[in-house]
Amino acid sequence: MKVLGIETSCDETGVALIDDREGLLAHRLYSQTDLHAVYGGVVPELASRDHIRRLLPLVRAVLDEAGVDGRDLDAVAYTGGPGLLGALLTGASVARSLAWGWGVPALAVHHLEGHLLAPFLEDAGLDFPFLALLVSGGHTQLIHARALGDYSLLGESIDDAAGEAFDKTAKLLGLGYPGGPALARLAEQGESGVLRLPRPMLDRPGLDMSFSGLKTAVLTALQKQDWRPEDVARAFEEAVAETLVEKTRRALAQCGAPALVVAGGVAANQTLRAGLRDMAASEGVPVFFPRPEFCTDNGAMIALAGLRRLQAATLRTDELALAAPEIAARARWPLAELTP
Ligand code: KG4
Ligand code: ZN
Repeated sequence: MKVLGIETSCDETGVALIDDREGLLAHRLYSQTDLHAVYGGVVPELASRDHIRRLLPLVRAVLDEAGVDGRDLDAVAYTGGPGLLGALLTGASVARSLAWGWGVPALAVHHLEGHLLAPFLEDAGLDFPFLALLVSGGHTQLIHARALGDYSLLGESIDDAAGEAFDKTAKLLGLGYPGGPALARLAEQGESGVLRLPRPMLDRPGLDMSFSGLKTAVLTALQKQDWRPEDVARAFEEAVAETLVEKTRRALAQCGAPALVVAGGVAANQTLRAGLRDMAASEGVPVFFPRPEFCTDNGAMIALAGLRRLQAATLRTDELALAAPEIAARARWPLAELTP
């Protein structure tokens, strides 16, 4: 079974081809960061226009590299939401049109389900049920994943997502966009414990989190004293990582899941990875991460989610092709609305 995956929810154009037996056959990613960097953030209209420019050449390159003809696919999977509506619609239009032309079904995939399933690309003995910590630019959520499509939200950030907090704090430190990776690099040179920032909401019960106050704490610290930027970056990274690790430990205790999955762009952060590894080891729970390039947005996770959905589908593929003929995308789409 072969599924082409197309991701266009934000500022990365990702295309990948997966096979149920051979795994990932080819994948390409075009990142628009240079395009948006001058504006200090993603400009939605520019993102949509650039997806239009990049998509077909990337699809062609992926199919050529794998030596696969579009008509031999079993489905085209694309990100149906959540994300920037215009960006999503470019992917949905291209995916559905290609699928229609090739005579194969098109499947709308939930972007966060793609992130959650990304560790399955590594084939390392992971299976449902598990607890997932999803940490991206738009979401910070603890999800109990019982089975494919059976997800419940245990806790989330009530304000900024962890990645958003990284990006905003990086801006305060004069680092470019997107700031997360740059802040992480700077933190490596910083000294631990020089500046102490709060661990938001750890003193409160429940699994919700808050990260907007940390950015304000950094701003206040910078106004009061001339801290070395690397020490500030280190203090910030440690505060975020410690908070996420402790909330994840509590979530594991609450839901009793036998495995932990960490996904989304911030899962590429080495300090967070190390903290979660130590915590999971002390709890006796195995932890699974996607490889760093599949932590951030990519087509491979969408192809994989499409493949898993197709394998689980009770509809015949010709019925699936007719199931949702219209081109649609959802800017907002709670993960818990999915069904097995
Ligand atoms: O999952 P993703 O590519 O996009 C969304 O779906 O949001 O995540 C992007 C986020 C950005 O906020 C970026 O700054 C952050 O992930 N990020 C990192 C690192 N790499 C990416 N944050 C901290 N450390 C990193 N190494
Ligand atoms: Zn994402």
